[in-house]
Amino acid sequence: SSSQIGLIGLGTMGSALALNIAEKGFFISVFNRTAAKTDAFMEEAGKLAERITPAHDLESFVHSLAEPRAIILMVPAGSATDEQIAALRPLLGDDDLIIDAGNANFRDTNRRMAELDQPFLGVGVSGGEEGARHGPAIMGGGKAEHWSRVAPILTAIAAKFEGEACATHLGAEGAGHFVKTVHNGIEYADMQLIAEVYGLMRDGLRLNPAQIAETFATWNEGPLQSYLVEISAKVAGATDTVSGKPMLDVILDAAGQKGTGRWTAIEAQHLGTPIPVIEAAIAARNMSARFEERREVATLFPADDRTIGSDALSLDLLEQALICGKILCYAQGFEMIAGASRAFEWDLNSAAVARNWRAGCIIRSAMLDEMAAAFEDAADRNLMRAPYFAAQIAQTHGALRNVVGLAAASGNPAPALGAALAYLDTMRLASGTANMIQGQRDFFGQHGFVRRDTGESDQHGSW
Ligand code: 6PG
Repeated sequence: SSSQIGLIGLGTMGSALALNIAEKGFFISVFNRTAAKTDAFMEEAGKLAERITPAHDLESFVHSLAEPRAIILMVPAGSATDEQIAALRPLLGDDDLIIDAGNANFRDTNRRMAELDQPFLGVGVSGGEEGARHGPAIMGGGKAEHWSRVAPILTAIAAKFEGEACATHLGAEGAGHFVKTVHNGIEYADMQLIAEVYGLMRDGLRLNPAQIAETFATWNEGPLQSYLVEISAKVAGATDTVSGKPMLDVILDAAGQKGTGRWTAIEAQHLGTPIPVIEAAIAARNMSARFEERREVATLFPADDRTIGSDALSLDLLEQALICGKILCYAQGFEMIAGASRAFEWDLNSAAVARNWRAGCIIRSAMLDEMAAAFEDAADRNLMRAPYFAAQIAQTHGALRNVVGLAAASGNPAPALGAALAYLDTMRLASGTANMIQGQRDFFGQHGFVRRDTGESDQHGSW
Protein backbone atom coordinates (compact mmCIF):
# COMPACT_ATOMS: atom_id res chain seq x y z
CA SER A 1 0.00 0.00 0.00
CA SER A 2 1.21 3.50 -0.83
CA SER A 3 1.37 6.41 1.58
CA GLN A 4 -0.42 9.65 0.72
CA ILE A 5 2.46 11.81 1.91
CA GLY A 6 6.06 11.48 3.08
CA LEU A 7 8.06 13.34 5.68
CA ILE A 8 11.83 13.61 6.00
CA GLY A 9 13.44 14.70 9.26
CA LEU A 10 12.22 13.24 12.52
CA GLY A 11 13.49 15.94 14.87
CA THR A 12 11.12 17.45 17.42
CA MET A 13 9.01 19.32 14.86
CA GLY A 14 9.10 16.62 12.18
CA SER A 15 8.05 13.84 14.56
CA ALA A 16 5.22 15.90 15.96
CA LEU A 17 3.98 16.83 12.48
CA ALA A 18 4.13 13.20 11.29
CA LEU A 19 2.09 12.02 14.29
CA ASN A 20 -0.41 14.81 13.69
CA ILE A 21 -0.80 13.75 10.04
CA ALA A 22 -1.28 10.08 10.98
CA GLU A 23 -3.74 10.99 13.71
CA LYS A 24 -5.90 12.86 11.21
CA GLY A 25 -6.26 9.60 9.27
CA PHE A 26 -3.64 10.00 6.54
CA PHE A 27 -1.12 7.36 5.56
CA ILE A 28 2.40 8.68 5.82
CA SER A 29 5.93 7.44 5.18
CA VAL A 30 8.81 8.77 7.25
CA PHE A 31 12.54 8.87 6.78
CA ASN A 32 15.40 10.11 8.93
CA ARG A 33 19.11 10.11 8.14
CA THR A 34 19.88 8.15 11.28
CA ALA A 35 17.76 5.00 11.24
CA ALA A 36 17.80 4.66 15.04
CA LYS A 37 15.74 7.82 15.26
CA THR A 38 13.16 6.35 12.88
CA ASP A 39 12.88 3.23 15.04
CA ALA A 40 12.53 5.28 18.22
CA PHE A 41 9.85 7.36 16.50
CA MET A 42 7.87 4.24 15.53
CA GLU A 43 7.94 3.09 19.17
CA GLU A 44 6.60 6.45 20.27
CA ALA A 45 3.87 6.38 17.60
CA GLY A 46 1.89 3.70 19.46
CA LYS A 47 -1.29 2.78 17.64
CA LEU A 48 -0.76 5.56 15.08
CA ALA A 49 2.07 3.36 13.74
CA GLU A 50 -0.49 1.43 11.70
CA ARG A 51 -0.76 4.41 9.34
CA ILE A 52 2.99 5.13 9.30
CA THR A 53 5.52 3.45 7.00
CA PRO A 54 9.08 3.80 8.27
CA ALA A 55 11.87 3.75 5.67
CA HIS A 56 15.53 3.15 6.34
CA ASP A 57 16.79 4.43 3.02
CA LEU A 58 15.70 7.21 0.71
CA GLU A 59 14.88 4.90 -2.23
CA SER A 60 12.40 2.76 -0.35
CA PHE A 61 10.97 5.93 1.22
CA VAL A 62 10.30 7.43 -2.21
CA HIS A 63 8.91 4.15 -3.56
CA SER A 64 6.48 3.85 -0.66
CA LEU A 65 4.69 7.03 -1.76
CA ALA A 66 1.65 7.27 -4.04
CA GLU A 67 2.32 9.17 -7.28
CA PRO A 68 2.48 12.05 -7.92
CA ARG A 69 4.37 12.18 -4.63
CA ALA A 70 4.26 14.85 -1.94
CA ILE A 71 7.20 15.04 0.45
CA ILE A 72 7.51 17.32 3.47
CA LEU A 73 11.02 18.33 4.48
CA MET A 74 11.52 19.10 8.16
CA VAL A 75 15.27 19.43 8.26
CA PRO A 76 17.39 22.34 9.54
CA ALA A 77 17.21 25.44 7.31
CA GLY A 78 20.12 26.31 5.05
CA SER A 79 22.66 23.85 3.65
CA ALA A 80 21.04 20.79 5.30
CA THR A 81 17.89 21.53 3.29
CA ASP A 82 19.85 21.95 0.04
CA GLU A 83 21.69 18.67 0.67
CA GLN A 84 18.46 16.82 1.35
CA ILE A 85 16.88 18.18 -1.83
CA ALA A 86 19.97 17.21 -3.85
CA ALA A 87 19.80 13.64 -2.50
CA LEU A 88 16.09 13.38 -3.19
CA ARG A 89 16.00 14.93 -6.62
CA PRO A 90 17.33 12.03 -8.76
CA LEU A 91 14.73 9.70 -7.21
CA LEU A 92 11.74 11.89 -8.02
CA GLY A 93 9.37 12.11 -10.96
CA ASP A 94 8.77 15.46 -12.72
CA ASP A 95 5.45 15.94 -10.99
CA ASP A 96 6.52 15.07 -7.44
CA LEU A 97 6.07 17.88 -4.96
CA ILE A 98 8.62 18.97 -2.36
CA ILE A 99 7.26 20.94 0.61
CA ASP A 100 9.89 22.70 2.70
CA ALA A 101 8.27 23.15 6.13
CA GLY A 102 11.43 24.28 7.93
CA ASN A 103 12.23 27.83 9.07
CA ALA A 104 13.79 28.70 5.71
CA ASN A 105 14.92 32.13 4.66
CA PHE A 106 12.42 33.13 1.96
CA ARG A 107 15.28 34.07 -0.37
CA ASP A 108 16.46 30.44 -0.25
CA THR A 109 12.90 29.34 -1.03
CA ASN A 110 12.75 31.73 -4.02
CA ARG A 111 16.07 30.37 -5.26
CA ARG A 112 15.06 26.73 -4.83
CA MET A 113 11.79 27.24 -6.67
CA ALA A 114 13.58 28.98 -9.53
CA GLU A 115 16.40 26.42 -9.74
CA LEU A 116 14.53 23.20 -9.25
CA ASP A 117 12.10 22.81 -12.10
CA GLN A 118 10.09 20.60 -9.75
CA PRO A 119 6.86 21.39 -7.90
CA PHE A 120 7.94 23.10 -4.70
CA LEU A 121 6.15 24.78 -1.79
CA GLY A 122 7.70 26.77 1.04
CA VAL A 123 5.51 26.65 4.12
CA GLY A 124 6.09 28.38 7.45
CA VAL A 125 4.97 26.31 10.41
CA SER A 126 4.45 27.95 13.78
CA GLY A 127 3.43 26.77 17.20
CA GLY A 128 6.42 24.88 18.55
CA GLU A 129 6.27 21.16 19.29
CA GLU A 130 2.81 21.32 20.83
CA GLY A 131 1.49 23.17 17.79
CA ALA A 132 3.07 20.77 15.32
CA ARG A 133 1.58 17.81 17.21
CA HIS A 134 -1.96 19.12 17.70
CA GLY A 135 -2.45 22.04 15.30
CA PRO A 136 0.10 24.55 14.02
CA ALA A 137 -0.49 27.68 11.94
CA ILE A 138 0.66 26.98 8.39
CA MET A 139 1.73 29.80 6.07
CA GLY A 140 1.92 28.61 2.47
CA GLY A 141 3.94 29.95 -0.44
CA GLY A 142 4.37 28.74 -4.01
CA LYS A 143 2.01 27.94 -6.86
CA ALA A 144 -1.67 27.69 -5.92
CA GLU A 145 -2.05 24.50 -7.98
CA HIS A 146 0.70 22.83 -5.89
CA TRP A 147 -0.89 24.04 -2.67
CA SER A 148 -4.26 22.54 -3.66
CA ARG A 149 -2.65 19.11 -4.00
CA VAL A 150 -1.76 19.00 -0.29
CA ALA A 151 -4.35 21.46 1.04
CA PRO A 152 -6.63 18.67 2.38
CA ILE A 153 -3.80 17.32 4.56
CA LEU A 154 -2.42 20.72 5.64
CA THR A 155 -5.91 21.97 6.46
CA ALA A 156 -6.71 18.85 8.47
CA ILE A 157 -3.60 19.08 10.64
CA ALA A 158 -3.70 22.87 11.16
CA ALA A 159 -5.05 24.74 14.17
CA LYS A 160 -8.66 25.86 13.89
CA PHE A 161 -10.03 29.26 14.86
CA GLU A 162 -13.78 28.90 15.36
CA GLY A 163 -13.68 26.03 12.91
CA GLU A 164 -11.62 27.87 10.29
CA ALA A 165 -8.27 26.21 9.54
CA CYS A 166 -5.12 28.27 10.04
CA ALA A 167 -3.53 26.88 6.88
CA THR A 168 -3.49 29.38 4.05
CA HIS A 169 -1.89 29.72 0.66
CA LEU A 170 -0.66 33.28 1.06
CA GLY A 171 1.23 33.95 -2.16
CA ALA A 172 3.74 32.87 -4.76
CA GLU A 173 7.40 31.93 -4.31
CA GLY A 174 8.77 32.36 -0.79
CA ALA A 175 5.73 34.32 0.44
CA GLY A 176 4.90 31.71 3.09
CA HIS A 177 8.40 31.71 4.53
CA PHE A 178 8.48 35.51 4.33
CA VAL A 179 5.28 35.77 6.37
CA LYS A 180 6.72 33.27 8.88
CA THR A 181 9.79 35.48 9.19
CA VAL A 182 7.66 38.54 9.94
CA HIS A 183 5.71 36.38 12.41
CA ASN A 184 8.98 35.68 14.20
CA GLY A 185 9.97 39.35 14.16
CA ILE A 186 6.64 40.18 15.79
CA GLU A 187 7.20 37.25 18.18
CA TYR A 188 10.52 38.79 19.28
CA ALA A 189 8.89 42.22 19.72
CA ASP A 190 5.87 40.89 21.62
CA MET A 191 8.20 38.97 23.95
CA GLN A 192 10.43 42.02 24.47
CA LEU A 193 7.46 44.30 25.25
CA ILE A 194 6.30 41.78 27.84
CA ALA A 195 9.82 41.48 29.27
CA GLU A 196 10.09 45.28 29.61
CA VAL A 197 6.80 45.45 31.44
CA TYR A 198 7.98 42.58 33.65
CA GLY A 199 11.12 44.62 34.42
CA LEU A 200 9.04 47.63 35.41
CA MET A 201 6.95 45.45 37.74
CA ARG A 202 10.03 43.79 39.23
CA ASP A 203 12.39 46.75 39.59
CA GLY A 204 10.01 49.70 39.39
CA LEU A 205 7.20 48.41 41.57
CA ARG A 206 9.23 45.78 43.46
CA LEU A 207 6.64 43.07 42.85
CA ASN A 208 7.61 39.45 43.45
CA PRO A 209 7.27 36.76 40.77
CA ALA A 210 3.98 35.50 42.23
CA GLN A 211 2.45 38.97 42.03
CA ILE A 212 3.78 39.38 38.51
CA ALA A 213 2.33 36.00 37.53
CA GLU A 214 -1.04 37.07 38.88
CA THR A 215 -0.91 40.34 36.94
CA PHE A 216 -0.17 38.60 33.63
CA ALA A 217 -2.89 36.04 34.34
CA THR A 218 -5.39 38.86 34.93
CA TRP A 219 -4.31 40.67 31.78
CA ASN A 220 -4.80 37.45 29.86
CA GLU A 221 -8.51 37.76 30.62
CA GLY A 222 -8.72 41.18 28.91
CA PRO A 223 -7.66 42.89 25.67
CA LEU A 224 -4.13 41.45 26.00
CA GLN A 225 -5.39 37.86 25.87
CA SER A 226 -2.67 35.95 24.04
CA TYR A 227 -0.53 32.84 24.18
CA LEU A 228 2.59 34.87 25.07
CA VAL A 229 0.93 36.68 28.00
CA GLU A 230 -0.57 33.37 29.15
CA ILE A 231 2.81 31.60 29.22
CA SER A 232 4.48 34.66 30.78
CA ALA A 233 2.12 34.21 33.73
CA LYS A 234 3.12 30.55 33.90
CA VAL A 235 6.84 31.30 33.63
CA ALA A 236 6.59 33.95 36.37
CA GLY A 237 4.58 31.61 38.58
CA ALA A 238 6.88 28.59 38.25
CA THR A 239 9.26 27.35 40.95
CA ASP A 240 12.64 25.73 40.36
CA THR A 241 12.59 22.18 41.68
CA VAL A 242 16.35 22.21 42.33
CA SER A 243 16.62 25.36 44.46
CA GLY A 244 13.02 26.00 45.43
CA LYS A 245 13.42 29.56 44.11
CA PRO A 246 11.15 31.20 41.54
CA MET A 247 12.18 30.06 38.04
CA LEU A 248 12.69 33.67 36.92
CA ASP A 249 15.35 34.12 39.60
CA VAL A 250 17.18 31.04 38.35
CA ILE A 251 17.22 31.77 34.60
CA LEU A 252 20.20 33.78 33.28
CA ASP A 253 19.07 37.02 31.62
CA ALA A 254 20.81 36.36 28.28
CA ALA A 255 18.44 35.66 25.37
CA GLY A 256 19.24 33.17 22.63
CA GLN A 257 18.09 33.39 19.04
CA LYS A 258 18.29 31.26 15.95
CA GLY A 259 18.18 34.20 13.57
CA THR A 260 14.70 34.41 12.05
CA GLY A 261 13.91 37.60 13.98
CA ARG A 262 17.11 39.11 12.64
CA TRP A 263 16.05 38.27 9.06
CA THR A 264 12.94 40.39 9.63
CA ALA A 265 15.08 43.44 10.36
CA ILE A 266 17.41 42.73 7.43
CA GLU A 267 14.48 42.42 5.01
CA ALA A 268 12.79 45.51 6.45
CA GLN A 269 15.93 47.45 5.57
CA HIS A 270 15.89 46.08 2.02
CA LEU A 271 12.24 47.07 1.69
CA GLY A 272 12.65 50.43 3.40
CA THR A 273 9.76 49.72 5.77
CA PRO A 274 10.11 51.04 9.33
CA ILE A 275 9.80 48.33 12.00
CA PRO A 276 11.48 50.07 14.97
CA VAL A 277 9.78 47.97 17.68
CA ILE A 278 11.00 44.72 16.13
CA GLU A 279 14.47 46.19 15.60
CA ALA A 280 14.57 47.31 19.23
CA ALA A 281 13.65 43.79 20.31
CA ILE A 282 16.46 42.24 18.29
CA ALA A 283 18.97 44.78 19.62
CA ALA A 284 17.76 44.06 23.15
CA ARG A 285 18.39 40.32 22.67
CA ASN A 286 21.87 41.10 21.37
CA MET A 287 22.58 43.36 24.37
CA SER A 288 21.21 40.77 26.78
CA ALA A 289 23.67 38.20 25.45
CA ARG A 290 26.57 40.43 26.52
CA PHE A 291 25.99 39.71 30.17
CA GLU A 292 29.66 39.75 31.19
CA GLU A 293 30.20 43.14 29.64
CA ARG A 294 27.01 44.38 31.27
CA ARG A 295 28.33 43.39 34.68
CA GLU A 296 31.40 45.55 34.13
CA VAL A 297 29.44 48.51 32.84
CA ALA A 298 27.14 48.13 35.86
CA THR A 299 30.04 48.87 38.19
CA LEU A 300 30.90 52.00 36.18
CA PHE A 301 27.34 53.39 36.11
CA PRO A 302 25.47 51.74 38.95
CA ALA A 303 21.67 51.91 38.78
CA ASP A 304 20.71 49.74 41.72
CA ASP A 305 17.64 51.62 42.82
CA ARG A 306 15.21 51.83 39.95
CA THR A 307 12.10 52.10 42.07
CA ILE A 308 9.12 54.03 40.74
CA GLY A 309 6.46 55.16 43.18
CA SER A 310 3.28 53.12 42.91
CA ASP A 311 1.37 56.42 42.98
CA ALA A 312 2.97 57.23 39.62
CA LEU A 313 3.10 53.76 38.07
CA SER A 314 0.03 51.56 38.36
CA LEU A 315 -0.57 48.11 36.91
CA ASP A 316 -3.42 49.60 34.94
CA LEU A 317 -1.05 52.12 33.35
CA LEU A 318 1.33 49.29 32.42
CA GLU A 319 -1.48 47.30 30.86
CA GLN A 320 -2.57 50.28 28.75
CA ALA A 321 1.02 50.92 27.67
CA LEU A 322 1.46 47.30 26.65
CA ILE A 323 -1.76 47.39 24.62
CA CYS A 324 -0.58 50.51 22.78
CA GLY A 325 2.94 49.12 22.19
CA LYS A 326 1.53 45.88 20.90
CA ILE A 327 -0.82 47.53 18.40
CA LEU A 328 1.99 49.74 17.07
CA CYS A 329 4.31 46.75 16.77
CA TYR A 330 1.76 44.75 14.76
CA ALA A 331 1.01 47.81 12.64
CA GLN A 332 4.69 47.80 11.66
CA GLY A 333 4.79 44.06 10.95
CA PHE A 334 1.74 44.30 8.69
CA GLU A 335 3.19 47.36 6.93
CA MET A 336 6.23 45.24 6.15
CA ILE A 337 4.03 42.50 4.70
CA ALA A 338 2.25 45.08 2.54
CA GLY A 339 5.63 46.46 1.43
CA ALA A 340 6.88 43.00 0.44
CA SER A 341 3.66 42.28 -1.38
CA ARG A 342 4.19 45.39 -3.54
CA ALA A 343 7.92 44.85 -4.04
CA PHE A 344 7.67 41.15 -4.97
CA GLU A 345 4.21 41.32 -6.59
CA TRP A 346 2.88 38.64 -4.26
CA ASP A 347 -0.58 40.07 -3.78
CA LEU A 348 -0.49 39.21 -0.08
CA ASN A 349 -3.77 39.66 1.73
CA SER A 350 -3.20 41.19 5.19
CA ALA A 351 -6.60 39.99 6.41
CA ALA A 352 -5.73 36.41 5.39
CA VAL A 353 -2.41 36.66 7.23
CA ALA A 354 -4.12 37.99 10.37
CA ARG A 355 -6.74 35.23 10.16
CA ASN A 356 -4.02 32.63 9.74
CA TRP A 357 -2.30 33.84 12.93
CA ARG A 358 -5.41 33.65 15.13
CA ALA A 359 -4.72 30.11 16.30
CA GLY A 360 -1.84 27.66 16.48
CA CYS A 361 1.07 30.08 16.19
CA ILE A 362 3.18 31.62 18.93
CA ILE A 363 1.75 35.13 18.45
CA ARG A 364 -1.90 34.04 18.50
CA SER A 365 -4.04 36.52 20.41
CA ALA A 366 -7.53 37.94 20.68
CA MET A 367 -6.32 41.13 19.03
CA LEU A 368 -5.52 39.31 15.78
CA ASP A 369 -9.21 38.64 15.22
CA GLU A 370 -9.83 42.41 15.40
CA MET A 371 -6.88 42.98 13.08
CA ALA A 372 -8.31 40.56 10.54
CA ALA A 373 -11.59 42.48 10.67
CA ALA A 374 -9.78 45.81 10.27
CA PHE A 375 -7.98 44.57 7.15
CA GLU A 376 -11.21 43.14 5.72
CA ASP A 377 -12.49 46.71 5.75
CA ALA A 378 -9.43 48.35 4.24
CA ALA A 379 -6.63 46.06 3.16
CA ASP A 380 -3.97 48.65 2.56
CA ARG A 381 -4.40 50.82 5.59
CA ASN A 382 -1.89 51.04 8.42
CA LEU A 383 -3.55 49.50 11.48
CA MET A 384 -3.08 52.81 13.27
CA ARG A 385 -5.66 54.27 10.90
CA ALA A 386 -8.23 51.51 11.17
CA PRO A 387 -11.09 52.99 13.27
CA TYR A 388 -11.06 50.23 15.94
CA PHE A 389 -7.32 50.48 16.54
CA ALA A 390 -7.19 54.25 16.12
CA ALA A 391 -9.65 54.44 19.02
CA GLN A 392 -7.54 52.02 21.08
CA ILE A 393 -4.39 54.03 20.43
CA ALA A 394 -6.16 57.27 21.27
CA GLN A 395 -7.15 55.73 24.62
CA THR A 396 -3.77 54.23 25.49
CA HIS A 397 -0.97 56.36 24.07
CA GLY A 398 -1.03 58.67 27.08
CA ALA A 399 -0.26 55.65 29.26
CA LEU A 400 2.53 54.55 26.91
CA ARG A 401 4.08 58.04 27.13
CA ASN A 402 3.75 58.02 30.89
CA VAL A 403 5.35 54.59 31.25
CA VAL A 404 8.22 55.38 28.86
CA GLY A 405 8.83 58.64 30.75
CA LEU A 406 8.83 56.91 34.14
CA ALA A 407 11.09 54.15 32.82
CA ALA A 408 13.59 56.69 31.49
CA ALA A 409 13.54 58.77 34.68
CA SER A 410 14.14 55.72 36.89
CA GLY A 411 16.79 54.04 34.73
CA ASN A 412 14.68 51.05 33.70
CA PRO A 413 15.37 50.19 30.06
CA ALA A 414 12.28 50.06 27.85
CA PRO A 415 13.65 50.18 24.28
CA ALA A 416 10.70 48.49 22.54
CA LEU A 417 8.06 50.53 24.39
CA GLY A 418 10.15 53.62 23.62
CA ALA A 419 10.40 52.67 19.94
CA ALA A 420 6.64 52.23 19.76
CA LEU A 421 6.11 55.69 21.22
CA ALA A 422 8.67 57.27 18.90
CA TYR A 423 6.97 55.59 15.93
CA LEU A 424 3.62 57.08 16.90
CA ASP A 425 5.13 60.50 17.60
CA THR A 426 6.94 60.48 14.27
CA MET A 427 4.04 59.23 12.21
CA ARG A 428 1.58 61.74 13.68
CA LEU A 429 3.84 64.69 12.93
CA ALA A 430 2.50 66.23 9.73
CA SER A 431 5.49 68.54 9.74
CA GLY A 432 8.66 66.74 10.80
CA THR A 433 12.34 67.60 10.94
CA ALA A 434 13.73 65.95 7.82
CA ASN A 435 13.85 69.38 6.18
CA MET A 436 17.07 69.79 8.16
CA ILE A 437 18.40 66.52 6.74
CA GLN A 438 17.49 67.58 3.21
CA GLY A 439 19.22 70.91 3.81
CA GLN A 440 22.34 69.12 5.02
CA ARG A 441 22.29 66.74 2.05
CA ASP A 442 21.99 69.58 -0.35
CA PHE A 443 24.70 71.54 1.47
CA PHE A 444 27.35 68.85 1.32
CA GLY A 445 26.36 66.96 -1.79
CA GLN A 446 24.00 69.04 -3.93
CA HIS A 447 21.38 66.28 -3.50
CA GLY A 448 18.46 68.63 -4.02
CA PHE A 449 15.20 69.11 -2.13
CA VAL A 450 11.51 69.72 -2.75
CA ARG A 451 10.18 73.23 -2.03
CA ARG A 452 7.23 73.30 0.35
CA ASP A 453 5.68 76.38 -1.26
CA THR A 454 5.73 75.37 -4.95
CA GLY A 455 6.23 71.58 -4.77
CA GLU A 456 9.14 71.84 -7.22
CA SER A 457 11.77 69.12 -6.87
CA ASP A 458 15.56 69.15 -7.46
CA GLN A 459 15.88 72.53 -5.84
CA HIS A 460 19.13 73.80 -4.35
CA GLY A 461 19.99 76.31 -1.65
CA SER A 462 22.54 79.08 -2.18
CA TRP A 463 24.75 77.74 0.61
C1 6PG B 1 7.24 29.34 16.08
C2 6PG B 1 8.59 29.88 16.53
C3 6PG B 1 9.71 28.96 16.17
C4 6PG B 1 11.08 29.51 16.56
C5 6PG B 1 11.29 29.61 18.03
C6 6PG B 1 12.70 30.00 18.44
O1 6PG B 1 6.57 30.11 15.41
O2 6PG B 1 6.89 28.22 16.41
O3 6PG B 1 8.82 31.11 15.92
O4 6PG B 1 9.66 28.74 14.78
O5 6PG B 1 12.05 28.67 16.07
O6 6PG B 1 10.41 30.53 18.55
O7 6PG B 1 13.15 31.15 17.82
P1 6PG B 1 14.47 31.86 18.37
O8 6PG B 1 15.45 30.80 18.73
O9 6PG B 1 14.99 32.70 17.24
O10 6PG B 1 14.05 32.65 19.55
